[in-house]
Amino acid sequence: MLDLEKMIEYTSPIQEDLDLFSEKLHDHLQGDSPLISSIAKHLLKSRGKRIRPVFLFLSSRAGDNFTDFSVDASLSIELIHTATLLHDDVVDESDMRRGQETVNSQWTNLISVLMGDYLFAKAFSMMVETNSIELMRSISRATERVAVGELRQIEETANYDLSEDAYLNIIADKTASLFAVSCEAGPILKSRDEKVRKNFADFGEKIGIAFQIADDLLDFVGDAKTIGKEPGIDVLTGQMTLPLIYGLHQSSPESRKEIIKILKAKDEKSFKKVYDFVLETGGIDYAYKKANKLAQEGLDSISSYKQNVYYKSLEDMVKFTTARAS
Ligand code: IPE
Ligand code: IPE
Ligand code: MG
Ligand code: MG
Repeated sequence: MLDLEKMIEYTSPIQEDLDLFSEKLHDHLQGDSPLISSIAKHLLKSRGKRIRPVFLFLSSRAGDNFTDFSVDASLSIELIHTATLLHDDVVDESDMRRGQETVNSQWTNLISVLMGDYLFAKAFSMMVETNSIELMRSISRATERVAVGELRQIEETANYDLSEDAYLNIIADKTASLFAVSCEAGPILKSRDEKVRKNFADFGEKIGIAFQIADDLLDFVGDAKTIGKEPGIDVLTGQMTLPLIYGLHQSSPESRKEIIKILKAKDEKSFKKVYDFVLETGGIDYAYKKANKLAQEGLDSISSYKQNVYYKSLEDMVKFTTARAS
Protein backbone atom coordinates (compact mmCIF):
# COMPACT_ATOMS: atom_id res chain seq x y z
CA MET A 1 0.00 0.00 0.00
CA LEU A 2 2.72 2.45 0.89
CA ASP A 3 4.20 3.17 -2.49
CA LEU A 4 5.10 6.75 -1.71
CA GLU A 5 6.44 7.48 -5.21
CA LYS A 6 2.96 6.87 -6.58
CA MET A 7 1.49 9.16 -4.00
CA ILE A 8 3.82 11.96 -5.13
CA GLU A 9 2.52 11.48 -8.66
CA TYR A 10 -1.14 11.60 -7.58
CA THR A 11 -0.62 14.70 -5.50
CA SER A 12 1.24 16.72 -8.13
CA PRO A 13 -1.81 19.00 -8.79
CA ILE A 14 -1.64 20.16 -5.15
CA GLN A 15 2.15 20.21 -4.75
CA GLU A 16 2.19 23.92 -3.93
CA ASP A 17 -0.44 23.46 -1.23
CA LEU A 18 1.60 20.64 0.29
CA ASP A 19 4.79 22.73 0.19
CA LEU A 20 3.04 25.54 2.01
CA PHE A 21 1.69 23.01 4.50
CA SER A 22 5.24 21.67 5.13
CA GLU A 23 6.69 25.12 5.55
CA LYS A 24 4.03 26.18 8.06
CA LEU A 25 4.28 22.89 9.95
CA HIS A 26 8.03 23.37 10.38
CA ASP A 27 7.47 26.93 11.60
CA HIS A 28 4.92 25.84 14.15
CA LEU A 29 7.04 22.99 15.44
CA GLN A 30 10.12 25.04 16.17
CA GLY A 31 9.61 24.15 19.80
CA ASP A 32 9.22 26.07 23.01
CA SER A 33 11.79 24.00 24.89
CA PRO A 34 14.81 21.81 24.01
CA LEU A 35 12.76 18.66 24.72
CA ILE A 36 9.86 19.79 22.54
CA SER A 37 12.33 20.70 19.79
CA SER A 38 13.98 17.31 19.79
CA ILE A 39 10.67 15.44 19.73
CA ALA A 40 9.37 17.75 17.01
CA LYS A 41 12.51 16.98 15.01
CA HIS A 42 11.91 13.27 15.48
CA LEU A 43 8.30 13.66 14.30
CA LEU A 44 9.24 15.75 11.28
CA LYS A 45 11.96 13.31 10.28
CA SER A 46 9.52 10.41 9.98
CA ARG A 47 6.73 12.73 8.79
CA GLY A 48 4.01 10.24 7.74
CA LYS A 49 2.00 10.24 4.56
CA ARG A 50 0.05 13.43 5.25
CA ILE A 51 -2.95 11.77 3.76
CA ARG A 52 -5.53 13.94 5.53
CA PRO A 53 -4.03 17.20 4.15
CA VAL A 54 -3.90 15.55 0.71
CA PHE A 55 -7.62 14.74 0.89
CA LEU A 56 -8.39 18.19 2.24
CA PHE A 57 -6.55 19.96 -0.58
CA LEU A 58 -7.74 17.71 -3.41
CA SER A 59 -11.37 17.69 -2.31
CA SER A 60 -11.34 21.45 -1.69
CA ARG A 61 -9.87 22.12 -5.11
CA ALA A 62 -12.21 19.62 -6.79
CA GLY A 63 -15.22 21.55 -5.50
CA ASP A 64 -13.64 24.98 -6.06
CA ASN A 65 -13.62 25.43 -2.29
CA PHE A 66 -9.96 26.18 -1.62
CA THR A 67 -9.49 29.35 0.47
CA ASP A 68 -6.70 31.26 2.23
CA PHE A 69 -7.61 29.28 5.35
CA SER A 70 -7.38 25.80 3.86
CA VAL A 71 -3.76 25.28 4.84
CA ASP A 72 -4.45 26.30 8.46
CA ALA A 73 -7.38 23.87 8.53
CA SER A 74 -5.17 21.05 7.24
CA LEU A 75 -2.44 21.88 9.78
CA SER A 76 -4.92 21.76 12.60
CA ILE A 77 -6.22 18.35 11.50
CA GLU A 78 -2.76 16.88 10.89
CA LEU A 79 -1.59 18.08 14.33
CA ILE A 80 -4.62 16.45 15.92
CA HIS A 81 -3.87 13.26 13.99
CA THR A 82 -0.25 13.33 15.19
CA ALA A 83 -1.34 13.98 18.78
CA THR A 84 -3.68 11.00 18.68
CA LEU A 85 -0.85 8.82 17.38
CA LEU A 86 1.36 9.85 20.31
CA HIS A 87 -1.43 8.87 22.67
CA ASP A 88 -2.32 5.73 20.70
CA ASP A 89 1.24 4.43 20.85
CA VAL A 90 1.13 4.70 24.63
CA VAL A 91 -2.26 2.95 24.72
CA ASP A 92 -1.07 0.20 22.37
CA GLU A 93 2.41 0.01 23.94
CA SER A 94 3.85 0.29 20.43
CA ASP A 95 7.57 0.73 19.97
CA MET A 96 7.67 1.30 16.22
CA ARG A 97 5.87 3.82 14.04
CA ARG A 98 6.69 5.07 10.56
CA GLY A 99 9.71 2.77 10.56
CA GLN A 100 11.32 4.38 13.58
CA GLU A 101 11.07 4.22 17.34
CA THR A 102 7.92 5.70 18.87
CA VAL A 103 8.17 8.69 21.20
CA ASN A 104 7.07 6.54 24.14
CA SER A 105 9.85 4.10 23.34
CA GLN A 106 12.64 6.61 22.62
CA TRP A 107 11.54 8.84 25.52
CA THR A 108 8.76 7.76 27.94
CA ASN A 109 4.99 7.29 28.10
CA LEU A 110 4.67 10.46 30.14
CA ILE A 111 6.55 12.49 27.55
CA SER A 112 4.53 11.01 24.69
CA VAL A 113 1.23 11.90 26.39
CA LEU A 114 2.35 15.44 27.22
CA MET A 115 3.79 16.03 23.77
CA GLY A 116 0.43 14.85 22.41
CA ASP A 117 -1.30 17.44 24.58
CA TYR A 118 1.11 20.09 23.33
CA LEU A 119 0.22 19.20 19.73
CA PHE A 120 -3.49 19.37 20.55
CA ALA A 121 -2.98 22.86 21.94
CA LYS A 122 -1.13 23.88 18.74
CA ALA A 123 -3.96 22.39 16.71
CA PHE A 124 -6.52 24.47 18.60
CA SER A 125 -4.69 27.68 17.85
CA MET A 126 -4.36 26.78 14.16
CA MET A 127 -8.06 26.01 14.10
CA VAL A 128 -8.88 29.44 15.50
CA GLU A 129 -6.79 30.99 12.69
CA THR A 130 -9.41 29.77 10.19
CA ASN A 131 -11.95 32.25 11.66
CA SER A 132 -14.73 29.75 11.07
CA ILE A 133 -16.87 28.77 14.05
CA GLU A 134 -18.50 26.11 11.88
CA LEU A 135 -15.15 24.51 11.07
CA MET A 136 -14.11 24.70 14.74
CA ARG A 137 -17.35 22.94 15.61
CA SER A 138 -16.67 20.19 13.08
CA ILE A 139 -13.03 19.68 14.03
CA SER A 140 -13.94 19.58 17.74
CA ARG A 141 -16.64 17.02 17.10
CA ALA A 142 -14.26 14.90 15.00
CA THR A 143 -11.63 15.01 17.75
CA GLU A 144 -14.21 13.88 20.26
CA ARG A 145 -15.12 10.99 17.95
CA VAL A 146 -11.46 9.90 17.80
CA ALA A 147 -11.40 9.64 21.60
CA VAL A 148 -14.73 7.78 21.65
CA GLY A 149 -13.43 5.33 19.03
CA GLU A 150 -10.19 4.70 20.91
CA LEU A 151 -12.06 4.15 24.19
CA ARG A 152 -14.64 1.88 22.52
CA GLN A 153 -11.81 -0.15 21.05
CA ILE A 154 -10.26 -0.64 24.48
CA GLU A 155 -13.66 -1.73 25.82
CA GLU A 156 -13.95 -4.30 23.04
CA THR A 157 -10.45 -5.71 23.34
CA ALA A 158 -10.58 -9.52 23.35
CA ASN A 159 -14.32 -9.49 22.65
CA TYR A 160 -14.23 -12.35 20.15
CA ASP A 161 -17.97 -11.91 19.49
CA LEU A 162 -17.58 -8.35 18.24
CA SER A 163 -19.97 -7.76 15.34
CA GLU A 164 -19.00 -6.29 12.02
CA ASP A 165 -21.28 -3.31 12.64
CA ALA A 166 -19.73 -2.57 16.01
CA TYR A 167 -16.26 -2.77 14.44
CA LEU A 168 -17.29 -0.44 11.62
CA ASN A 169 -18.68 2.07 14.11
CA ILE A 170 -15.46 2.06 16.09
CA ILE A 171 -13.23 2.65 13.08
CA ALA A 172 -15.60 5.29 11.73
CA ASP A 173 -15.12 7.19 14.99
CA LYS A 174 -11.42 6.65 15.53
CA THR A 175 -10.29 7.12 11.92
CA ALA A 176 -12.99 8.24 9.47
CA SER A 177 -13.89 11.25 11.63
CA LEU A 178 -10.69 13.13 10.69
CA PHE A 179 -11.03 12.15 7.01
CA ALA A 180 -14.63 13.39 7.00
CA VAL A 181 -13.77 16.75 8.50
CA SER A 182 -10.81 17.10 6.11
CA CYS A 183 -13.13 16.68 3.14
CA GLU A 184 -15.84 18.84 4.66
CA ALA A 185 -13.45 21.71 5.40
CA GLY A 186 -13.60 23.17 1.87
CA PRO A 187 -17.42 23.47 1.68
CA ILE A 188 -17.49 24.81 5.26
CA LEU A 189 -14.90 27.49 4.57
CA LYS A 190 -16.71 28.49 1.38
CA SER A 191 -20.12 28.44 3.13
CA ARG A 192 -21.58 26.02 0.59
CA ASP A 193 -25.08 24.72 1.21
CA GLU A 194 -25.78 21.79 3.48
CA LYS A 195 -26.13 19.29 0.65
CA VAL A 196 -22.67 19.96 -0.80
CA ARG A 197 -21.16 19.86 2.64
CA LYS A 198 -22.81 16.54 3.39
CA ASN A 199 -21.65 14.99 0.12
CA PHE A 200 -18.03 15.84 0.88
CA ALA A 201 -18.35 14.72 4.49
CA ASP A 202 -19.85 11.39 3.31
CA PHE A 203 -17.03 11.00 0.85
CA GLY A 204 -14.42 11.48 3.62
CA GLU A 205 -16.26 9.23 6.04
CA LYS A 206 -16.45 6.32 3.57
CA ILE A 207 -12.86 6.74 2.46
CA GLY A 208 -11.74 6.90 6.09
CA ILE A 209 -13.49 3.65 6.97
CA ALA A 210 -12.03 2.00 3.86
CA PHE A 211 -8.58 3.32 4.80
CA GLN A 212 -8.75 1.79 8.29
CA ILE A 213 -9.99 -1.55 6.93
CA ALA A 214 -7.02 -1.56 4.55
CA ASP A 215 -4.67 -0.57 7.38
CA ASP A 216 -6.05 -3.36 9.58
CA LEU A 217 -5.53 -5.80 6.71
CA LEU A 218 -1.83 -4.97 6.77
CA ASP A 219 -1.62 -6.58 10.18
CA PHE A 220 -2.35 -9.84 8.34
CA VAL A 221 -0.81 -9.38 4.93
CA GLY A 222 1.86 -6.70 5.38
CA ASP A 223 5.54 -7.17 6.07
CA ALA A 224 7.63 -5.28 8.59
CA LYS A 225 9.53 -3.38 5.90
CA THR A 226 6.49 -1.85 4.21
CA ILE A 227 4.33 -1.24 7.27
CA GLY A 228 7.05 0.06 9.58
CA LYS A 229 6.10 -2.39 12.35
CA GLU A 230 5.68 -6.14 12.78
CA PRO A 231 2.47 -7.77 11.48
CA GLY A 232 0.34 -9.92 13.80
CA ILE A 233 0.27 -7.37 16.60
CA ASP A 234 -3.52 -6.83 16.51
CA VAL A 235 -4.10 -10.59 16.76
CA LEU A 236 -1.66 -10.88 19.62
CA THR A 237 -3.18 -7.99 21.57
CA GLY A 238 -6.81 -8.97 21.10
CA GLN A 239 -7.77 -6.26 18.59
CA MET A 240 -10.63 -7.64 16.53
CA THR A 241 -10.50 -6.48 12.92
CA LEU A 242 -12.66 -7.26 9.90
CA PRO A 243 -10.88 -10.32 8.42
CA LEU A 244 -11.02 -12.12 11.74
CA ILE A 245 -14.55 -10.97 12.61
CA TYR A 246 -15.76 -12.25 9.25
CA GLY A 247 -13.78 -15.50 9.53
CA LEU A 248 -15.20 -16.28 12.97
CA HIS A 249 -18.72 -15.70 11.69
CA GLN A 250 -18.20 -17.99 8.71
CA SER A 251 -16.55 -20.92 10.46
CA SER A 252 -18.05 -24.01 12.06
CA PRO A 253 -18.63 -23.91 15.83
CA GLU A 254 -15.68 -26.30 16.31
CA SER A 255 -13.09 -24.33 14.38
CA ARG A 256 -14.41 -21.11 15.89
CA LYS A 257 -13.83 -22.55 19.33
CA GLU A 258 -10.36 -23.70 18.39
CA ILE A 259 -9.36 -20.30 16.99
CA ILE A 260 -10.70 -18.46 20.04
CA LYS A 261 -8.63 -20.77 22.23
CA ILE A 262 -5.54 -19.85 20.19
CA LEU A 263 -6.41 -16.14 20.38
CA LYS A 264 -6.81 -16.30 24.14
CA ALA A 265 -3.43 -17.99 24.56
CA LYS A 266 -1.73 -14.91 23.00
CA ASP A 267 1.23 -16.87 21.74
CA GLU A 268 3.29 -15.06 19.10
CA LYS A 269 4.02 -18.32 17.33
CA SER A 270 0.38 -19.07 16.59
CA PHE A 271 -0.14 -16.06 14.30
CA LYS A 272 0.39 -18.28 11.26
CA LYS A 273 -2.56 -20.45 12.35
CA VAL A 274 -4.82 -17.43 12.74
CA TYR A 275 -3.61 -16.08 9.40
CA ASP A 276 -4.37 -19.40 7.64
CA PHE A 277 -7.80 -19.48 9.24
CA VAL A 278 -8.62 -15.96 8.13
CA LEU A 279 -7.40 -16.68 4.60
CA GLU A 280 -9.31 -19.96 4.30
CA THR A 281 -12.56 -18.55 5.62
CA GLY A 282 -12.37 -15.73 3.07
CA GLY A 283 -11.86 -13.00 5.67
CA ILE A 284 -8.98 -11.32 3.81
CA ASP A 285 -10.89 -11.27 0.56
CA TYR A 286 -14.06 -10.05 2.24
CA ALA A 287 -12.27 -7.14 3.93
CA TYR A 288 -10.66 -6.00 0.67
CA LYS A 289 -14.02 -6.16 -1.08
CA LYS A 290 -15.67 -4.20 1.72
CA ALA A 291 -12.95 -1.51 1.58
CA ASN A 292 -13.32 -1.19 -2.18
CA LYS A 293 -17.09 -1.02 -2.00
CA LEU A 294 -16.98 1.76 0.58
CA ALA A 295 -14.35 3.63 -1.41
CA GLN A 296 -16.54 3.49 -4.51
CA GLU A 297 -19.60 4.68 -2.59
CA GLY A 298 -17.50 7.55 -1.29
CA LEU A 299 -16.44 8.57 -4.78
CA ASP A 300 -20.03 8.29 -5.99
CA SER A 301 -21.19 10.89 -3.50
CA ILE A 302 -19.00 13.53 -5.17
CA SER A 303 -19.28 12.22 -8.74
CA SER A 304 -20.73 15.50 -9.98
CA TYR A 305 -17.14 16.81 -9.93
CA LYS A 306 -15.97 13.96 -12.16
CA GLN A 307 -14.85 16.23 -14.95
CA ASN A 308 -12.02 17.93 -13.14
CA VAL A 309 -8.38 17.03 -12.70
CA TYR A 310 -8.55 16.97 -8.89
CA TYR A 311 -11.31 14.38 -8.96
CA LYS A 312 -9.03 12.14 -11.02
CA SER A 313 -6.33 12.51 -8.34
CA LEU A 314 -8.88 11.72 -5.66
CA GLU A 315 -9.75 8.52 -7.52
CA ASP A 316 -6.05 7.61 -7.67
CA MET A 317 -5.59 8.43 -3.98
CA VAL A 318 -8.60 6.31 -3.06
CA LYS A 319 -7.16 3.38 -5.00
CA PHE A 320 -3.80 3.98 -3.38
CA THR A 321 -5.22 3.91 0.14
CA THR A 322 -7.27 0.76 -0.34
CA ALA A 323 -5.04 -1.26 -2.68
CA ARG A 324 -4.05 -4.82 -1.95
CA ALA A 325 -0.73 -5.19 -0.18
CA SER A 326 -0.32 -8.73 -1.47
C1 IPE B 1 -2.21 5.87 11.10
O1 IPE B 1 -2.62 6.83 10.18
C2 IPE B 1 -3.31 5.59 12.03
C3 IPE B 1 -4.50 5.10 11.37
C4 IPE B 1 -5.62 5.77 11.37
C5 IPE B 1 -4.47 3.82 10.69
P1 IPE B 1 -1.72 7.17 8.93
O2 IPE B 1 -1.42 5.90 8.19
O3 IPE B 1 -2.34 8.26 8.16
O4 IPE B 1 -0.40 7.67 9.62
P2 IPE B 1 0.83 8.50 9.08
O5 IPE B 1 0.58 9.91 9.50
O6 IPE B 1 0.92 8.36 7.58
O7 IPE B 1 2.01 7.91 9.76
C1 IPE C 1 -4.46 4.52 15.16
O1 IPE C 1 -5.15 3.35 15.40
C2 IPE C 1 -4.88 5.61 16.08
C3 IPE C 1 -6.08 6.34 15.78
C4 IPE C 1 -6.83 6.16 14.72
C5 IPE C 1 -6.47 7.34 16.74
P1 IPE C 1 -4.40 1.95 15.39
O2 IPE C 1 -3.83 1.67 16.72
O3 IPE C 1 -5.37 0.98 14.83
O4 IPE C 1 -3.31 2.18 14.29
P2 IPE C 1 -1.73 2.01 14.33
O5 IPE C 1 -1.51 0.60 13.92
O6 IPE C 1 -1.27 2.30 15.70
O7 IPE C 1 -1.25 2.99 13.31
MG1 MG D 1 -1.85 1.72 17.48
MG1 MG E 1 -4.79 1.70 18.60
